[in-house]
Amino acid sequence: MAEVIVVGSRKAAGALVAEAIERLVAVQPDAVLGLATGDTPVPVYRALAERVRAGLDLSAVRGFALDEYVGIPVGHPQSYHSVIDAEVVVPLGLNPAAVHVPDGRSLGIETAGERYEAAILASGGIDLQILGIGTDGHIGFNEPGSSFASLTRVKTLTRQTREDNARFFDSVDEVPVHSITQGLGTILRARRLVLLAFGAAKAHAVAAAVEGPLTASVPASAIQLHPRATVVVDEEAASMLGELEYYRDAFENKPTWDPVIL
Ligand code: PGA
Repeated sequence: MAEVIVVGSRKAAGALVAEAIERLVAVQPDAVLGLATGDTPVPVYRALAERVRAGLDLSAVRGFALDEYVGIPVGHPQSYHSVIDAEVVVPLGLNPAAVHVPDGRSLGIETAGERYEAAILASGGIDLQILGIGTDGHIGFNEPGSSFASLTRVKTLTRQTREDNARFFDSVDEVPVHSITQGLGTILRARRLVLLAFGAAKAHAVAAAVEGPLTASVPASAIQLHPRATVVVDEEAASMLGELEYYRDAFENKPTWDPVIL
């Protein structure tokens, strides 16, 4: 099962994951990160940016975004190309040529998934995949029903996801209908997974992902298949977990030889 770590704040979560990434990069300067977008990973990127300002060198780190909207101009401020550039590449001092985002342009979309998978394989694979979780239980844009074996491909967004993401656009009608996303099979190939979730709105999805039955109806439950998955949540997002006391106990008694996340 996933290791669950309950933290006091988003900032504490960001510090914890940034610390793990710093340790990864110390032994592997060109580590490959899987990069989530949305509000959830922002504390991780902020904490890393602080470390970069303090001297941490991430210039050899490579990255693969989880997903992108289909049919949105690359330069649109809400395209994940733009978001990854503004929130990750620039503040972390990454090499833009080493950070990949799925190609959501309509022209050639039929082969975009295959091309992305080939690029991930050519990189040697993702070392640490950062994940958020949707209120409908998605990871990446793998909406309920997604195959656990799925690879990068086009998915139609649920109405729920489009409503959740409408805050980034002028209205829900502006939110693209399609996305291109790493599949659950792609995500499961990453060497380590870190899923973050904050706030009461995520509590149900977190409990279903960590403790519910393994089901394509809750795509995030796929993390139960991964041998090295860590879930970092605040108290609100943890509030519906049935085994919460056990997770706290396990973390307090974590063997000293067993590092957090890595
Ligand atoms: P959020 O989205 O981080 O903006 O809450 C998470 C997700 O949809 O995966």
